[in-house]
Amino acid sequence: MNKEVDINELLKELSLSEKIGQLQQLASQFYIKDSEGELTGPLKDLGISEEKIWVSGSVLGVKDAEEARRIQDKYLDKSSTKIPLLFMADIIHGYRTIFPIPLAIGCTWNLNNAVLCGQVSAKEAALSGVHVTFSPMVDLVRDPRWGRVMESTGEDTYLNSVFGKAFVEGYQGDLSSNYNIASCVKHFAAYGAVEAGREYNTVDLSDRQLKEYYLPSYESSIDEGAKMVMTSFNTIHGVPASGSKYLMRDILRDNFQFDGVVISDWGAVGELQVHGVAADDEEVAEKAISAGVDVEMMTSCYINNLENLVKEGRVQEELIDEAVLRILQLKKDLGLFSDPYRGMDGDKAKQMFLCNEHKEAVRKVARESIVLLKNENVLPLSKDKKVAVIGPKGDSTDLLGGWSWQGRKEKITTLKENLIEGIGNNLISYAEGCDINGHDESGFEEAVNVAKEADVVILALGESSEMSGEGGSRAYIGLPGVQEKLAEEILRLNKPTVVLLFSGRPLEITNLSEKAPAIIEAWFPGTEGGAAITEVLYGDFNPSGRLTMSFPYATGQIPVYYNCYNTGRPKTSNTAETRYVSQFIDIPNEPLYPFGYGLSYTQFQYKDFTLSSDKMTKDDKIIASVTVKNIGDRKGTETVQFYIRDLVGSTVRPVKELKGFKRIELEAQEESKVEFVITEEMLRYYNIDSELVSEPGDFHAMVGSNSADTYTKKFTLL
Ligand code: BGC
Repeated sequence: MNKEVDINELLKELSLSEKIGQLQQLASQFYIKDSEGELTGPLKDLGISEEKIWVSGSVLGVKDAEEARRIQDKYLDKSSTKIPLLFMADIIHGYRTIFPIPLAIGCTWNLNNAVLCGQVSAKEAALSGVHVTFSPMVDLVRDPRWGRVMESTGEDTYLNSVFGKAFVEGYQGDLSSNYNIASCVKHFAAYGAVEAGREYNTVDLSDRQLKEYYLPSYESSIDEGAKMVMTSFNTIHGVPASGSKYLMRDILRDNFQFDGVVISDWGAVGELQVHGVAADDEEVAEKAISAGVDVEMMTSCYINNLENLVKEGRVQEELIDEAVLRILQLKKDLGLFSDPYRGMDGDKAKQMFLCNEHKEAVRKVARESIVLLKNENVLPLSKDKKVAVIGPKGDSTDLLGGWSWQGRKEKITTLKENLIEGIGNNLISYAEGCDINGHDESGFEEAVNVAKEADVVILALGESSEMSGEGGSRAYIGLPGVQEKLAEEILRLNKPTVVLLFSGRPLEITNLSEKAPAIIEAWFPGTEGGAAITEVLYGDFNPSGRLTMSFPYATGQIPVYYNCYNTGRPKTSNTAETRYVSQFIDIPNEPLYPFGYGLSYTQFQYKDFTLSSDKMTKDDKIIASVTVKNIGDRKGTETVQFYIRDLVGSTVRPVKELKGFKRIELEAQEESKVEFVITEEMLRYYNIDSELVSEPGDFHAMVGSNSADTYTKKFTLL
């Protein structure tokens, strides 16, 4: 039930300073602590006066429903406008019940999991007073040094686009239910392309790269109805994104027809001055509002300067009106004028947190996100064997990963505890060996002794949560500290050993992958991670995860991604011995594990790949079909991947591009025919004149179990 508010009428009633207030977002502390007394701490730092708090439009990050209610109450009491506050927060992969990190969710190649994550997160968050989540992050990522790859679904444009859509669908539904929240897509644009993967660094992309690879995922989330977009910290074409008319007016508003609210990233409006495109706060405000930022997060250039700028004629009041109307519309869409306390229900929230249904949901997604990278007859383990769990991740509660600020580590059952629960105390022994990042090797001896006593060893290694996420760039992306050394000591025993990795990014593990007979990537698997891993280790669940980001052979290879260009001198089997081809002289060109890769406890055979025709007109379709057979002796899920290559274009085209995928579950010895429909639309790209068109000519259709292992058929677009 939405009280009929005419937002245009409401706008007319607001003074200029009240309108500008709507454009300000402040963290929750501003409303509870400092507001009672003198200006201290954050208020002072922001150079904002107390009275301005009571005209501000939105709040960042509330603790719980009680706090949200208290803030809303106080605000409505003190504010002259009585327009309810909007509460926003980073709910990235769960609120209290935590899903695996988004990079892991991507590895399920199951869009329902993103919808589920969105729904469960929205429910817990909405009951806790949140109206908008700063998610999904759909930034395309090709550089695992960048800590924020954990927040993305990987290196592929198509996959990011469909996952972005699915998250938005999950969070928002149609927003009519109090269990849904609005979604803010971020970071616009191309934040994933920061140079050297260094956080907040420069991005300089060609327009072609931007349009072809980076922009589609934002667009598809917007098409799905995402209510908000967040700008990014980086530059694009020499202009910071938060001051870029090109990004916000030309692309976002004109091309994508986005009519929702644009918010800056934290402090990014103020940073226009630090970037060096504005001399002072006034110029910052003028540039950001003109470029199209509606809400300024956590700096105060608008609220302290826009009024003067309007009076001086440097900023048109209409610009402010447009921004305010978009914010009021969002408040209306969320029903805040009828119920400023929308959703907030602390008691109900507590019933939902970590309830069985939510725990089952996160466990399901965790299971499906685990990627089996190598297995030389070690896995699955049999339940009567003595197991030594070795390594700093074996008995660790640090399984939630970055952006899980509402998660509760103390509620986590560790891997060791799960194994004891499932297999029995007498069969499980444990030694930490070393810590995550230190250099102390004094625990090695005990670890080796514990391993010697066991039939099989699980080496639980990896990163801590702080090593990825925002501000978590790493230059060396191997295992931190002395973990690899510990692994070598243990592997020297030649026991059946599983290396079990926990990380927020693809790691450089080439040495380990040569020595270890089995490797599992478990990412940061969330609240039910330990249980999900136990199911995979013992074969109660047959692993089905597939990588959405290449594992580099060496850090010096980065960026390494599957949909690259061919170059004029590609390395082929014929040129392998030649010097003057595009290659490294010390390592292969190929990543260690490619995009789309992942093993199962069964095997799948591909046969009878056919196209319904080898030609099509622009109005035709071709059906590509392949039969996939489970030739092993247990049920398993295969992700059949479909790629296309445009052989000759007016500009160069990638060697392959993912155009579709299908997950199929097959019983032992069962086979199934899988079909993909090739349409003209699938063949479009930005041609030499930057028009999104298809060009007649030859194409390759490819199908396979990962990007490096495909079968090919040729067809022609007439
Ligand atoms: C991050 C955003 C986040 C925002 C609000 C920024 O530092 O880059 O992703 O949504 O903070 O917490």
